[in-house]
Amino acid sequence: MMKLLSEQVFKPGAFPDYTYVSRISPELNFNYEIRLMQALKISGCLTSIVGPSKMGKTVLCEKVIEFEKLVEVSGGDFTVRNDFWKVLSIKVGLALEGEYSETHHSINEKAQKGLSRTERYIASKDKVIEYFKEEGKVLVLDDFHYAPEEVQVYIAQQLKDAIRKEFKAIVVTLPHRADDAIRKNADLSGRLSLINIEPWTADELKQIAIKGFKELNAHISDEIATRIATESLTSPQLMQYICLSISTLIDLDNETGERIVDETKLEDSFKFTTLNFEYRDVIKTLKEGPNTRGKQRKIFDVITGEFMDVYGLIMKSLEDNPPLMELSLDELKTRIDILTENSVEKVDKKRIKDGLNQLQSIINEKETIFQVFEWKENMLYILEPLFLFYLRWGVH
Ligand SMILES: Nc1ncnc2c1ncn2[C@@H]1O[C@H](COP(=O)(O)OP(=O)(O)OP(=O)(O)O)[C@@H](O)[C@H]1O
Ligand SMILES: [Mg+2]
Repeated sequence: MMKLLSEQVFKPGAFPDYTYVSRISPELNFNYEIRLMQALKISGCLTSIVGPSKMGKTVLCEKVIEFEKLVEVSGGDFTVRNDFWKVLSIKVGLALEGEYSETHHSINEKAQKGLSRTERYIASKDKVIEYFKEEGKVLVLDDFHYAPEEVQVYIAQQLKDAIRKEFKAIVVTLPHRADDAIRKNADLSGRLSLINIEPWTADELKQIAIKGFKELNAHISDEIATRIATESLTSPQLMQYICLSISTLIDLDNETGERIVDETKLEDSFKFTTLNFEYRDVIKTLKEGPNTRGKQRKIFDVITGEFMDVYGLIMKSLEDNPPLMELSLDELKTRIDILTENSVEKVDKKRIKDGLNQLQSIINEKETIFQVFEWKENMLYILEPLFLFYLRWGVH
């Protein structure tokens, strides 16, 4: 048997052949693979997979659907309203040159030719649907939220029509999207199979390390696996990354090395792993808070000996142990109280709340890399585990 390399076992960016973990969907007590298989069997229904980023939505689709049957497109592939079927037909190699080309004839000219653009376009839509049916193809429309909102609505209409004709499709989106064009679309109600991908538990994450190091003939204790799982913050991707970093630092691909994963290299591996991520600018911007226009901000004494304003304190409180993906205002207040124990001046709840509102406005105006948390209804939801991990272990 060929000796496996750690990079073949731990795959943070691709399908994990050797470390795939099957999880139970808490809603039904079945595993996600069975749920998805069943959903795909219900003809006339669209499957909607919703789950936080990097939780294995794409990997699940790739596990369940045979490689040859899978047609993956991203919401980002669609920029204008009516290129949906065009993009699909190009993707599967059906597009006929010229068929969709934008014509700029006058209405008169079109009438003379007896062919409106709409007619040609509908014919091709049917052809795409027919092709998918004949070949047993399944469309996975990944990262649907990347499509512009009005395009999402348009695609939803198109899919509604297509699924009646037994076109099989899965739409994958992030949660917390108030404007969900699929799930909140009245036209689609009763025609959806819903699958919610939950964040990973520490026990599920642990299995990645246990499976992987076993494949690599290395020993890892349950305790160490748990420790890595806690740092991975519900993210299987982060777990894969950290395990790969550990393998590198303890030199597992070298035959002569000792094959034990112990405490010694753990923190180094966490730090080493942050080199793959770039959240320095995001963290800097958030720590700075809004522009004060020359006004002095209230500064507090922190137990570390530093001085911080409320923005610094909010960010610092997120770094604390244990790492949490959701924090209530009360929890944040408790953490900040401990941080400012020695400060004469106390930070009240209102100041924290106002600070978080300000940070949320900053985030809202920035590009997607800044969408790292969401503050709503007195809860702070970390949307990006990699951000929190970077905050804890990276240089910033
Ligand atoms: N079932 C699994 N078992 C082991 N590792 C997994 C599993 N699912 C996902 N992973 C790991 O997490 C990584 C990210 O998974 P995936 O790309 O499927 O997430 P996603 O939810 O589609 O993310 P995004 O929101 O960015 O599209 C994978 O490359 C893999 O390393
Ligand atoms: Mg994905």
